[in-house]
Amino acid sequence: MRHFLDLEDIPPLDLRAILYEAHGRKKARAGFAKGAPDADRPLEHRVLATIFEKNSTRTRVSFDIAMRQLGGNALVLDAATSQLGRGESVADTARVLSRMVDAIMLRANSHDSLLELAKHATVPVINGLTDKSHPCQILADLMTLEESGITLKGARLAWVGDGNNVLTSFMHAAPAFGFSLAVATPRGYAPPDAVVEKARAAGADITLSDDAATAVGGADSVITDTWVSMGDTDVGPRMQALGPYAVDDALMAKANRGAIFLHCLPAHRGEEVSDSVMDGPQSKVFDEAENRIHAQKAVLTWCFRD
Ligand code: CP
Ligand code: NVA
Repeated sequence: MRHFLDLEDIPPLDLRAILYEAHGRKKARAGFAKGAPDADRPLEHRVLATIFEKNSTRTRVSFDIAMRQLGGNALVLDAATSQLGRGESVADTARVLSRMVDAIMLRANSHDSLLELAKHATVPVINGLTDKSHPCQILADLMTLEESGITLKGARLAWVGDGNNVLTSFMHAAPAFGFSLAVATPRGYAPPDAVVEKARAAGADITLSDDAATAVGGADSVITDTWVSMGDTDVGPRMQALGPYAVDDALMAKANRGAIFLHCLPAHRGEEVSDSVMDGPQSKVFDEAENRIHAQKAVLTWCFRD
């Protein structure tokens, strides 16, 4: 029984194995109907509970479809309409759900809730995004980079925009996979110092600046995300500070030829990314979204492995 809470906690060899499994399962079911199970149905009779304290489209659907494809089932709990929303403790919720389901995925307002759930659950707990990190997303992103012919070891990734939860998970992954990160954020929106320092101490090559053009120069991939994450309340100042960090054709032109554009979605077209980049030939954002299913199937089977 293993929790999947953050990429920095998982042995690099396991992360590599998860990515191999994701690629393999995707290839093995080419031509299958979306809801048809994989030939080996590794999670037959298993049930995953997914809990959402925040909105979701991709995470919600991809975990449900992932479980169907693995031969199991998923159910959705909205925090607001369950007893969690009326004050039942996370610890008691963990104890109850552990008697009823085989694994729990949580999308939480606070990372502390995820840690509390994992502490009291006796079944695997998976991080489906918190204020601090989004590890499932980064596995899908790394899978998409590899599908695009980019070797992760030595790859140069450029992050432009807000130093948010998605960037933190990229930093958690950087030492394990050996890619570098050139990060451009406005002042006040840089990633947390502790995350940067820990990744560097583990051997990651991370450059921080406030200059998008410099960060993107020589990049194999340009990556951004919304300027206002769920839970952010300082909308006005964010929009103003982040305005110069939009990814448009002019910025993409500074990256390597053949560089790909990634965005975890949902995108705010005309804000952090232009329509022309989102819909252009370098954009892999819809492969990236689909890969949430394949990457999470590998995470789920990893959680159940002895
Ligand atoms: N990228 C992502 O996690 O999307 P959702 O918020 O729609 O789940
Ligand atoms: N940074 C975004 C990611 C959404 C998938 C948020 O936390 O809202």
